[in-house]
Amino acid sequence: MSDPFETRLADQLLHWYDRHHRDLPWRVTPPARREGHEANPYHVWLSEVMLQQTTVQAVKPYFRKFLETWPSVTDLAMAPVEDVMAAWAGLGYYARARNLKKCAEAVASLHGGVFPDTEEGLRSLPGIGDYTAAAVAAIAFDRPAAVMDGNVERVISRLYAIDAPLPGAKPLMKARVRALTPLQRPGDFAQAMMDLGATICTPKRPSCVLCPFRDNCLALGSDDPERFPVKAAKKEKPVRQGAAFVAVSTDGAVLLRRRPTSGLLGGMTEVPTTDWTARQDGGTTTDCAPFPADWQPAGVVTHVFTHFELRLTVFRARTAQRREAEGWWEPVERLETQALPTVMKKAITLAIPRAFA
Ligand code: ADE
Repeated sequence: MSDPFETRLADQLLHWYDRHHRDLPWRVTPPARREGHEANPYHVWLSEVMLQQTTVQAVKPYFRKFLETWPSVTDLAMAPVEDVMAAWAGLGYYARARNLKKCAEAVASLHGGVFPDTEEGLRSLPGIGDYTAAAVAAIAFDRPAAVMDGNVERVISRLYAIDAPLPGAKPLMKARVRALTPLQRPGDFAQAMMDLGATICTPKRPSCVLCPFRDNCLALGSDDPERFPVKAAKKEKPVRQGAAFVAVSTDGAVLLRRRPTSGLLGGMTEVPTTDWTARQDGGTTTDCAPFPADWQPAGVVTHVFTHFELRLTVFRARTAQRREAEGWWEPVERLETQALPTVMKKAITLAIPRAFA
């Protein structure tokens, strides 16, 4: 980046960040950096994987718990994958957890527990794509990588009033981010763009008067910043249905089983359900129950996945003893320790209201 106009914009943003940055558990803030603190690549990588598709507020407790349990990337590499999946339960997009574990193993075994410090080196690791490689290279190693997430897309599309719709406009937006990224403090610049998008350049009612780009923002000049980013019309999500069966033994255990490793919610724990997928409904009656019992309807839970919405009819039954069935019986008070995705927690809560209380 050398254009004086872009240099000035980057300076204005960094100046704003020095005063208005968010304090986040994985972040080395400008004051902390002045005191000599350095970014920890493990913390940066872990937070970036968690933050994909998940909000900062939701990530904070998970981030803390992971670091408590596995303080270094080699600790994570040695952890049983079931423990990692259980600790991830509730964060969603579970392939991320499996890839997280694979990536930790690769860093431990191929790189002696030290993360590569370039975008290319990072991209060669399992589960690290363009976004994560750029974010870790910039934030952990101060490489001038172009980092673009949803917040940055919004900022850049407004700053330059980009009319082309997403997702097609991504390469154009990325080129703009690359041109704006400074050689000095590129990591702070990347985080500043994210903070600006999260706190000032918000999707609705942006606080343009407080924005460091207000004098140069073309969207603000056009009087309708909320129009950006322009998005291609979304297809409606199909609605799928299925049934879930919560069996509770008289000694207070719930029948659970493990989902197949590949596919949706791969490797996570579930109560027995019918075979619903993004493309196909499952049965919704007690004919599909794992064994004959006095199955009673408990209600319907809905859950929105990336490509479809699921309506799951929940049945519950009490069984005299822990019957022989596929899976295992888990005491209700130990359900918290299981890798139960949110949709399964919702289904169990409908059948056993205080299961996770
Ligand atoms: N969203 C994704 N990565 C982030 C980061 N490093 N800081 C704040 N928000 C983010």
